[in-house]
Amino acid sequence: MNKDDRFAINKKTDLAHVKFRVKNGGRTAVRQPWKLLILIPIYALVYYAVNSGVNSLPMIRGVLWAPVLLLCILGTLIGFYIIGCPWQSSRIADEFRRIGLVNDADEPPFLISVSRDKKNKKIREYLFDGSGIPLSEFEKNVEEIEAVLDLSVISFCRERGKRRILMRAVPAKGDLPNMVNWNDSMLSPESFVLTLGEGYTGPVTLDLRSAPHVLLGGTTGSGKTVLLKLMLYQCVKKGAKVYIADFKGLDYSRFFEENCVMCLDWDSTRAALETLMKEKERRLRLFRSVGAVNIDEYNAKTGENLPRLIFACDEYAQMTASGSRSKEEKELLYTIENLTASVARLGRAFGIHLILATQRPDADVLSGQIKNNMDHRICGKADATLSTIVLGDGSANDLIPKYRSGRFLLGDGTLFQAYWFNEASVGGWSGMG
Ligand SMILES: Nc1ncnc2c1ncn2[C@@H]1O[C@H](COP(=O)(O)OP(=O)(O)O)[C@@H](O)[C@H]1O
Ligand SMILES: [Mg+2]
Repeated sequence: MNKDDRFAINKKTDLAHVKFRVKNGGRTAVRQPWKLLILIPIYALVYYAVNSGVNSLPMIRGVLWAPVLLLCILGTLIGFYIIGCPWQSSRIADEFRRIGLVNDADEPPFLISVSRDKKNKKIREYLFDGSGIPLSEFEKNVEEIEAVLDLSVISFCRERGKRRILMRAVPAKGDLPNMVNWNDSMLSPESFVLTLGEGYTGPVTLDLRSAPHVLLGGTTGSGKTVLLKLMLYQCVKKGAKVYIADFKGLDYSRFFEENCVMCLDWDSTRAALETLMKEKERRLRLFRSVGAVNIDEYNAKTGENLPRLIFACDEYAQMTASGSRSKEEKELLYTIENLTASVARLGRAFGIHLILATQRPDADVLSGQIKNNMDHRICGKADATLSTIVLGDGSANDLIPKYRSGRFLLGDGTLFQAYWFNEASVGGWSGMG
């Protein structure tokens, strides 16, 4: 690269920095108006300059307002430039230079802002002016970046077609743990609250009373089966009757076989769903007879203890894949999907819940009728498209590192590390309720 090219790049970067700082200063002034106090000495200087100018050049008095206005604007911009200085930028720039993360003109990325993720306060969003450094260079140097900044990096992305690079990270010490073992003392004392894992502000829970159905998505190996088992284990412990459709037939061991109804084929799955719908009808009559509108009210009024019923399916797509099926099989499948949709639509008041896990719950896999009723959405590691399918936005792609299993994001934006659950370690307990 010759000197002129380098000069051109330098100039472009400098201009970008100045523009950024002025803009950032404007934004900061809105948020923290007291910082505008900096304008007082600047305006005083303008006043002084104009006054002395007027004294020595009285003939421009007639059009004085024009240069005064110009000087005031200039002064304000300088004020914004001063206010808009991003903290620590030079130190970080130096560190980047040291690890060799520089562009062709030997410029390191320039930190232009640090802000907090709105939902997960520990997560910081570092916005860099990448100075023309490709995103892949950041990704390649992730370990060095983590070391010099003492951070644990979650993800990098380029900001909407700009030169800017957005890095999400947490302080190295404040990161979520990579593994937390479940133990029964973590069980929520509340009747139908499930404890899922460790979030930035403590345990993360899911209340099935207010929002009864759960959809769990994420790539293979994201930890869906482990989390599903964790939830189902708690359901069993809380006295629910649990049906598990598992077409792989591998993942659910003795504890579940002994305490749940396992559905390993279509016939038993259909039978289970029909049982649930019949129970729904029965409960409807019961609730009507005492004027209760939901299971909690019914149980409270009558002193009875109608259990909650859970229908869970791991790898829902595998169950409903209709590939090369015979006509009868397709009809059976159709019935199963319709029954699932009915449970999704009608189960809520009656304490009948769905918990469905599948890699990719797009329209081919999960009908709109079912999906729209899945109030709780949980997504493990995913690319932007998958995250959008599950949560409605790309946040799981942004907030979950690609190599992290058991890390999940709730629909409300809460990030957590799911408890590691292994039924072998909770052995010795059997029987419902
Ligand atoms: N909560 C967790 N904590 C730590 N590691 C986990 C956790 N859940 C899953 N893993 C790791 O990820 C692997 C895959 O988990 P699994 O539940 O089978 O994923 P999926 O069902 O999404 O394909 C597990 O074998 C384990 O090594
Ligand atoms: Mg699985």
